[in-house]
Amino acid sequence: MTRLSYLKLLTSTLLFTSTLACTTDEECSLNGICESNSCTCDPGWTNSDCGKLDLRPGPRSNGYNRTSEGISSWCNGIIRDPNNKDLYHLFISEFTHGCGLDYWSPYSHIIRAESQNGPLGPYTPKQEILPTFAHNPTVIWSEKDEQYLLYNIGCPQSVPSTCQDVNFTCGPGNSENGESGISVLSSTDLINWSKHGQVFPGLTNTAWDADTTNPGPLHVHSSSHSFHETILAYRGCPYNCNGTELITIASATDYPGPYTFIHPRSPIFEQASEDPFMWMDKRGNFHLLVHSLLSDAGFGAGPNVGRHAYSRSWDGPWTFDMETVAFNTTVEFDDGSSIDYYRRERPNLVFSDDGDMRPLFLSTGVQEVNSPASYSLIQPIGEGN
Ligand SMILES: *[C@@H]1O[C@H](CO)[C@@H](O)[C@H](O)[C@H]1NC(C)=O
Ligand SMILES: *[C@@H]1O[C@H](CO)[C@@H](O)[C@H](O)[C@H]1NC(C)=O
Ligand SMILES: *[C@@H]1O[C@H](CO)[C@@H](O)[C@H](O)[C@H]1NC(C)=O
Ligand SMILES: *[C@@H]1O[C@H](CO)[C@@H](O)[C@H](O)[C@H]1NC(C)=O
Ligand SMILES: *[C@@H]1O[C@H](CO)[C@@H](O)[C@H](O)[C@H]1NC(C)=O
Repeated sequence: MTRLSYLKLLTSTLLFTSTLACTTDEECSLNGICESNSCTCDPGWTNSDCGKLDLRPGPRSNGYNRTSEGISSWCNGIIRDPNNKDLYHLFISEFTHGCGLDYWSPYSHIIRAESQNGPLGPYTPKQEILPTFAHNPTVIWSEKDEQYLLYNIGCPQSVPSTCQDVNFTCGPGNSENGESGISVLSSTDLINWSKHGQVFPGLTNTAWDADTTNPGPLHVHSSSHSFHETILAYRGCPYNCNGTELITIASATDYPGPYTFIHPRSPIFEQASEDPFMWMDKRGNFHLLVHSLLSDAGFGAGPNVGRHAYSRSWDGPWTFDMETVAFNTTVEFDDGSSIDYYRRERPNLVFSDDGDMRPLFLSTGVQEVNSPASYSLIQPIGEGN
């Protein structure tokens, strides 16, 4: 046997072995099922362990990119209008005074934008929901309350007319940039929002999660079991913890709180990460897509920024997928071009609304190399395998 054919044989044996690897659905990242020792992935997910999103090239003109007008934006969430199926709403952080991503605090305010061209957009701004400083908007539907809930961070803060750092606080946990403390608003029509104030403040001490931010809420509902729970994934950090941010989950019977903890305020996994986006799949398993802060990711350069974690129950145990990267900093477009982004964070999925929870689109906040500007990019997801 030549050395080359021996290598080929070895490689195919290894591939063969890896596709025959699973014995449990956990080894398929709970994004598929283990059948005859191999993973059958749910639509949208791919790779031997179903841990990777099947991202496809989309149009360059998509999402919310106002950088040509000198306007930067970040966090995003897409909701289909309940009454007009052709209308999609985007809730997004936009920075006033032409400030770039570095000045997200205190220049961020929360905007509602609309698309009549489907979930990919592009979206047009329609309304300011909250003035500066307001950031991290995440909108969910609460079956129990028959209302939409918008979770965010921030508190009213007037801003200088030029982009500069401002020291301020929105409560315990952080005295420098106001990012600690999670608030909630509710609405029946996505347009008229009622404020309920800060429902989940930070801590005055230096605990790992003193600075509570990045709300990733989920409303879990079972009418047959009269079961309702509002679950809140969030990121903690003693201020300026510099890449050691961690994630955990709190829960409440009612969205205004009080929120209680699963493992008395300890992280659900040890891997540094932030921006948790949570969902429950069609089998009732729980998933998180996060912005990884591991050494091959972090705030800039990446490339392995998108990681997936899963659990059969929201209160754990959670597994952070160290093997397979869910998405990275490279985006290919349908005109054959591609961009290697400097930062790609704030993952958010749009699912099919047939109960299958098939991921159809991934939206992220992106920043290009050597640019202070940022925008929201939406990428289609294929069938997977
Ligand atoms: C977003 O807009 C900027 C400025 O016009 C442009 O350079 C960039 O290529 C756009 N992004 C995409 C994905 O087209
Ligand atoms: C904010 O406060 C920190 C110390 O708490 C200080 O180092 C920094 O210079 C202050 N920044 C501004 C813009 O005042
Ligand atoms: C907004 O909602 C509040 C509370 O539901 C209601 O009292 C108010 O009339 C609404 N305003 C508009 C303009 O619809
Ligand atoms: C943050 O951590 C990085 C990598 O560990 C280190 O290079 C950098 O100096 C740290 N920055 C601060 C402000 O501590
Ligand atoms: C990033 O992801 C794309 C699409 O999944 C893949 O083709 C590419 O090889 C990845 N790049 C790196 C540096 O891993």
